[in-house]
Formats: sequence, structure tokens, C-alpha cells
Amino acid sequence: MWTHRHLLGIEDLSADDVDAVLDHADTWFERSRGTERKAALLKGRTIINLFFESSTRTRTSFEAAGKRLGADVVNVSSSGSSVSKGETLLDTAKNLEAMRADALVVRHSSSGAPAFLAGRVSCAIVNAGDGAHEHPTQALLDAFTIRRAKGRLDGLVVAICGDITRSRVARSNAILLGKKGAKVRLTGPRTMLPTAAETLGSSVTVLPRLEAAIEGADVVMMLRIQNERFADGGRGSAVPPMSTTREYARTFGLNAAKLASAKPDAIVMHPGPINRGVELDPYVADGERSVILDQVEAGVAVRMAVLELLLAPRAA
Ligand code: NCD
Repeated sequence: MWTHRHLLGIEDLSADDVDAVLDHADTWFERSRGTERKAALLKGRTIINLFFESSTRTRTSFEAAGKRLGADVVNVSSSGSSVSKGETLLDTAKNLEAMRADALVVRHSSSGAPAFLAGRVSCAIVNAGDGAHEHPTQALLDAFTIRRAKGRLDGLVVAICGDITRSRVARSNAILLGKKGAKVRLTGPRTMLPTAAETLGSSVTVLPRLEAAIEGADVVMMLRIQNERFADGGRGSAVPPMSTTREYARTFGLNAAKLASAKPDAIVMHPGPINRGVELDPYVADGERSVILDQVEAGVAVRMAVLELLLAPRAA
């Protein structure tokens, strides 16, 4: 039984909550593949996407998800809004609340921004990525994609590779996969690995070499270096994240030769946007083991499930 008013992070969800989202998403996934995609479940509801950071997939799929459920969806981004004139996050949110928005889908560079709003406005708040903290719908759509490909999450070995410390995707995935009984291996350059990985759960191990993390894995999830989270945008940091892009690609990029040590039926994932030739060889990104576009398709269905659980009348 779903009892949450907001979706702020995977940390707040039980394993049963995760199953509820994935099970509801199954229905929307099948329906979205048919010709009659639109439902009337959220007719008359208003969902506002409030994005303070760039987005292609997350914003568009929340919009598609809301519209497929019959809701009105409005997009606000920081660049074209009064945020660029100095309005605070809370004032912006209170103004959108005054327009009788039912949900605010919030992406922000500060960890905790969605939780801050959840206590201060009456709308349901959905975290669409807050700093390096959480990206719950990404982890849910990743779990959905893995479950469809492998039939389960329990007992799988999932290698998550790249800029772990600055990645909200890595954090949300590690927490979710741990709750669902998967084993998570984190790998990346030393400067991008957490020092206290045990806070992510006992199912998480940190390995310094990509090859060791990938060996025998069922799932290999590659991540982009989060340059925007370095104080100077990653251009001239006191401690450079990695000497050169070429060096990064050589040691922590995934190519077909390295992938050969994973399970023969291992799948390759990436939340996007991909930096081709850096963390992922184009041949692998577009290869038969890649489920990257399946993740994108799952994103709409999973966000429909989340909006349904948060906003639909309780009989649902
Ligand atoms: C991720 C994000 O914004 O955290 N992208 C996404 O939502 N699909 C990962 C990233 O930007 O690298």
C-alpha cells in the first residue's frame, strides 16, 4: 500500500514500494506500446516541471508521462523564469502553488532542494535530481529495465562505473539495488570513489579497477563525469579529476574487450547523456548488449506510475 505524498529519494522507499512502482509501470509500458496511449486518470490535474538544471530525457519523459495520464503539464526552467531575476526557490514554488499546481517535479543543483520544498508547499514534490544526492525516478527506471531484461533484481551483480561521488544516479541505484537484494560494485578513479561506501548499504563494495568490477557482472552501468559539479566546471580544479580524457577512456571507459569479462548475457546501461568515446565506446553504446534506449522508453512508464501513485484518486 503506497502511502507517500512525495517522492524525494529511494532512501524513503521500502522494497514493496519499489515493487509497487515497477508493477504499475508494467501496465503503462505495455499501454504506451499500443495505439491507445492516453488515459484520463489525472484529468484536471496540473503538474509543473520546475527545472534548474539542464535535462533532455527526464523533463521530456515527465511531460509525456503527465500528458499520457491526462494531466496538464507546464514547464518552467530557471533560464527563462524569474529565477534569473533573483527570485528564491521557495518564492517560485509558492507562486506555482498559488496557481493550484498538484505536483512540482523539481530538478536542482542543491542536494535537499526538493525536501526543503516538501515541507513548505502543499503540492506533491517529485525529485527529478538534486545535486549529487538522489535521482529516484532514474533508479526506478533502471530497476524496471533490469527486471525486464533479467526477470529479477535479487542476486544480480551490478557494476556501476565512473564518477560515483558526484553521481545522484549511482547513489539512488546503489540504495535501490541493495534493498532489492542485488550486489553492487562501484568503481572509478580514486578521486571519484566514496570513502564511506558502507553508508550505501552492506551489499555495496568499492573496487579500484574497472576490470575487477566488471568481471562476471550481470549489469554494467556506465556514468558520465559530472563536470558541472566541480567548483570551476571541471576546467582547472586544484585536484584534476583525471589527467586527460584519453587516460580516462583507457582506464575507466568501457569497450568490447573489457565487456568480454562480464557475463555473456550482461547488459550495458547508461542514464545519458553519453560522452561517446570517453566512458563508453560507441560500438558498445550501440551494440546488442546495450539497453540504453530501453531505459529511455522505461522512463515514461515509470514516471507515469510515480505520478499515478502520488496523484490519482486512492481507488487506484
Ligand atoms: C543524469 C542526471 O541528470 O543526473 N541524467 C539523467 O537524468 N538522465 C546523469 C547525468 O547527467 O550524467
